[in-house]
Amino acid sequence: MRILVTGGAGFIGSHMTCRLLDEGCHVLNVDKLTYAGSLENLGSHLNHPKHRFEKADICDLPKMAALFNDFKPDRILHMAAESHVDRSIDAPQIFIQTNVIGTQNLLLAGLDYWRKLPQDAQDSFRFIHLSTDEVFGALGKDGFFNENSPYRPNSPYAASKASSDLLARSYWKTFDFPVVIMNSSNNYGPRQYPEKLIPLMILNALEEKSLPIYGKGYQMRDWLFVEDHVEALWIALNKAAPGETYCVGGGNDFSNIDLVHALCGILDEMQPRKSGKPYRDLISFVEDRPGHDFRYAIDAGKMKRDLGWRPKADFASGLRTTVTWYLSRQKGLAAIPARERRGKA
Ligand SMILES: NC(=O)c1ccc[n+]([C@@H]2O[C@H](COP(=O)([O-])OP(=O)(O)OC[C@H]3O[C@@H](n4cnc5c(N)ncnc54)[C@H](O)[C@@H]3O)[C@@H](O)[C@H]2O)c1
Repeated sequence: MRILVTGGAGFIGSHMTCRLLDEGCHVLNVDKLTYAGSLENLGSHLNHPKHRFEKADICDLPKMAALFNDFKPDRILHMAAESHVDRSIDAPQIFIQTNVIGTQNLLLAGLDYWRKLPQDAQDSFRFIHLSTDEVFGALGKDGFFNENSPYRPNSPYAASKASSDLLARSYWKTFDFPVVIMNSSNNYGPRQYPEKLIPLMILNALEEKSLPIYGKGYQMRDWLFVEDHVEALWIALNKAAPGETYCVGGGNDFSNIDLVHALCGILDEMQPRKSGKPYRDLISFVEDRPGHDFRYAIDAGKMKRDLGWRPKADFASGLRTTVTWYLSRQKGLAAIPARERRGKA
């Protein structure tokens, strides 16, 4: 298969690009290399003979159209986005540009390209759009999001992703363009930019900085190991029905405070502090994020029933794998200036 990926130098995108190359696919990797993208994330796969990298902005419509016509993909996997909620509160505009306008450009360029394909290639073509469970807003103590949950985004990030989902949906309904929308929960694993909760906590702890937790840390999140997400996307590329939406979750529901305690426990074991004190002593509670959603949880039943996918990672070992990776990269990541590490829990 020839796959056009966007955002393939980011966290999920780099894991997915490596998997596609390992599966024997030809990959055109389109990425603007913002602060969140790095070619280092691709390791030795960067120079894989079937990998072509193109530094480009998905907001550049003529460029996107030219890349479709030149590479002639069988599928597109759209992962490029501005992805951090805190940044969307500080500066929403770029979220509208990349997540809404950028997605619209890819849909438009993709539709134009797809219409010229022979019938059998049109039938098997898929535009896989990565999205988030945050588009559904917040849950109370009970219940789960599923494919029929209403859209109620609460942050500019979630609103921009919701807008892009609705555009994608409209291209299926209006033009029969074979779009598939994947709404996943919080991913974790190696190579995540250290503004997101897990890597931020690990690096701050190792540098003896405070571990800032929003509110009291009671917010609940479902955690999905990135390799389980990659497997879900690979299956979707091969088997997903056009026009469908799938919710993907790891089934690991934890409050932020419990998660940070777990991380501190792993660090106490793997790299004890010189002072001998536990890392959890570094936790500090900060003013809650405006509009902070209380709980997200996913019912991934449709993925399991229709596509035969199941998350495999055990949360405790997934966290250990993640901590081990950050320990091995501590020096390089410490070079990322504090202003770039702006996330809080
Ligand atoms: N990380 C999560 O927990 C999570 C959960 C659900 C959904 N998602 C979605 O999955 C996708 C990937 O998320 P991630 O965490 O890997 O993101 P990331 O921030 O790590 O990577 C995003 C990538 O997109 C690239 N990019 C940004 N703007 C671009 C533009 N205008 N043109 C081209 N490339 C651009 C960046 O350079 C970077 O390589 C996003 O669509 C995100 O909304 C992420």
